Amino acid sequence: MRTPTALQKALEPLLDAKHRSEEQALSALMAGYPIAASEQPSVSNTTAEIVFASRAMKAERGTLDAFMQEFGLSNQEGVALMCLAEALLRIPDAATQDLLIAEKMRAGDWKRHAGKSENLLVNASVWGLMLTGGLVKLDKELVKNPIEWIGKTISRLGEPVIRTAVIQAMKIMGRQFVFGRTMDEALRQRARLGTEDQLFSFDMLGEGARTEAAARRYQQLYLESITAVGEKTAEQGKTHLERSSVSIKLSALHPRYEAVKRARVMDELLARVKELCLKAKSYDIGLTIDAEEADRLDISLELLEALARDPGLKGWQGLGLAVQAYMKRAPYVIDWLTALGRETGRRFPVRLVKGAYWDTEIKHAQELGLDDYPVWTRKASTDLCYICTAKKMIGAPDAIYPQFATHNAHSIAAIAHMAGDVEFEYQRLHGMGALLYKAARAVLGQTLRIRTYAPIGAHEDLLPYLVRRLLENGANSSFVNRFMDARIPVSEIVQDPHSTVMNYKNQRHAHIPLPTDLYGDRKNSRGIDLTSPSMIAGAPVKSKPADVTAPQNPRLVVGITRAASEKDMLHALEIAQAAQPAWNALGGNARADIFDKMAGLIEDHRATFIDLTCREAGKTIADGLSEMREAADYCRYYALQAREKFGQPQILKGPTGESNQLSLHGSLLLQIIEVF
Ligand code: FAD
Ligand code: 2OP
Repeated sequence: MRTPTALQKALEPLLDAKHRSEEQALSALMAGYPIAASEQPSVSNTTAEIVFASRAMKAERGTLDAFMQEFGLSNQEGVALMCLAEALLRIPDAATQDLLIAEKMRAGDWKRHAGKSENLLVNASVWGLMLTGGLVKLDKELVKNPIEWIGKTISRLGEPVIRTAVIQAMKIMGRQFVFGRTMDEALRQRARLGTEDQLFSFDMLGEGARTEAAARRYQQLYLESITAVGEKTAEQGKTHLERSSVSIKLSALHPRYEAVKRARVMDELLARVKELCLKAKSYDIGLTIDAEEADRLDISLELLEALARDPGLKGWQGLGLAVQAYMKRAPYVIDWLTALGRETGRRFPVRLVKGAYWDTEIKHAQELGLDDYPVWTRKASTDLCYICTAKKMIGAPDAIYPQFATHNAHSIAAIAHMAGDVEFEYQRLHGMGALLYKAARAVLGQTLRIRTYAPIGAHEDLLPYLVRRLLENGANSSFVNRFMDARIPVSEIVQDPHSTVMNYKNQRHAHIPLPTDLYGDRKNSRGIDLTSPSMIAGAPVKSKPADVTAPQNPRLVVGITRAASEKDMLHALEIAQAAQPAWNALGGNARADIFDKMAGLIEDHRATFIDLTCREAGKTIADGLSEMREAADYCRYYALQAREKFGQPQILKGPTGESNQLSLHGSLLLQIIEVF
């Protein structure tokens, strides 16, 4: 047997981690936490210095930060505004827009917020913002008593005006996060900034293409943006790491970027990404693949591996990937990337984020009835995982250039503490974290390399991005939502996640039951993780997938297969043997009934099966039909044998019950029937 390569070895734990329980996975992280108990106070002190320095610059804070602090997701009014922001720009007709506005505005107790914030515009709240759209003039009455003003304004101006104003307000809010409507505008904007703020990762807004035409449009935009960044920001004498780069989302480039569409992803999508990479290579700038939903991780890694091995991209070190620390798999992704980097002679720029799709991941796993979540259910577990994963990245400088994207002062301080003299950078999002990083520079040193992720585009493409930013800024668990709030003691904000996790009563969040326990009083129906590699009796098969093609047409991919290893086979055998006693105990009659049922099912589904035999084995329809009839005949023949030979009802004899040739086949058949 050939010895597995480091890359193959790294794949096993990566696959296993997806199915590991939160408790087990967290214990493993805790055991390897890289900041010793004796060093934790020093990291917390640095964090506190950054927070104090930020609070001292309060006056420079943007309106949006103050707005989010007052109207976060922890109050009804904040939630109402978020819903409006999320929904309003998508509703096509005016009548429905008016209904939504009326419903959301009626739901809130707006008086509670009057005069609470130190920010004048926030006191005027969203209505103040919409005034800056120029629809009505800011008057004294509004500042004094926004609630009364809202009521009067609605009756004076009528719903259409209010509707336009609210939409305008949402656009204004969205603009806080967008660096420019076009690449040209963005580059002009960049030119106006100081020398220390020149490093960007430009991102053309757009994701989740639903049609081929949309995917083509996004690809064109990406190509143009790479050209613009390559031509207009190429400063002399700088390495590719010191130059601006681009970020892309694979979901923008293909309408079926899904694990179950592997063949198309590895063919069509790979070709599109390669074209972008070649363009980035021609200017020697970085291109980072953003991290999206957890279900896409496996397929995105496969795609990255293909790019990393592509001879056409040899010599270019700008191929990068974002990794989400809220995923249990994050540290193992880094091990895998390190092995891939070493095998292919690459040093991947890796952006470590916590992850922007947490709510979606939780809901999705519940909806699918999965055995567990792919993400942690406690915020501090994600923070802990971020630090553990960061340490791995710092420890592999030959294969990884670490890029730490965070707006959390503790994460920033922990990285500064661990990094030593390894080259790395911090990243922030445009519209967020400016003040925090100004403070971080003051505390940690002016030479910090900080890159800003700069979204570019029009408001039609902004919505999903905007919603993620609103959720992030509005959640009271978010660092950005709390660190400027003078009512919150700094000591509460600077705690090390290790000590928070140590004090957990339960490692899983008390209000987030396992997806199967969702309903409490009854079990949720169990689903299958179709994005996971093939399974044998509950355990993933870890070999690489290979296409199965039709013998009569090698271009027709019928499915994928993964070769089972000796270990996989032994595992399957163990499972079958463990099931044997229960099968034996059923007795001949019951087993015969199962075979009869199987024969019936084969006949009921014969069209599907015939179709499969034609595609997979190249049979004619007539041959396929004969196969199906033979299979049903065999089942009935076995049923007859079982009745005749073992027909007496069995008294349950326990695990040492009878054994015969038929029963081993039978237990496998039983599993097949279960799949139906
Ligand atoms: P913190 O306040 O410390 O952390 C907030 C995060 O904790 C949440 O976003 C969530 O991930 C996690 N969290 C919250 N509640 C829980 C809970 N109950 N259980 C477990 N975890 C929880 N995100 C992507 O997904 N893909 C990307 O490609 C990507 N690119 C980015 C690029 C840049 C430059 C930046 C700055 C961010 C990017 N993000 C991306 C967004 C990023 O994931 C969020 O900004 C980040 O999670 C916020 O983390 P924080 O350290 O700033 O804040
Ligand atoms: C997002 O689109 C920044 O990639 C991150 O939310």
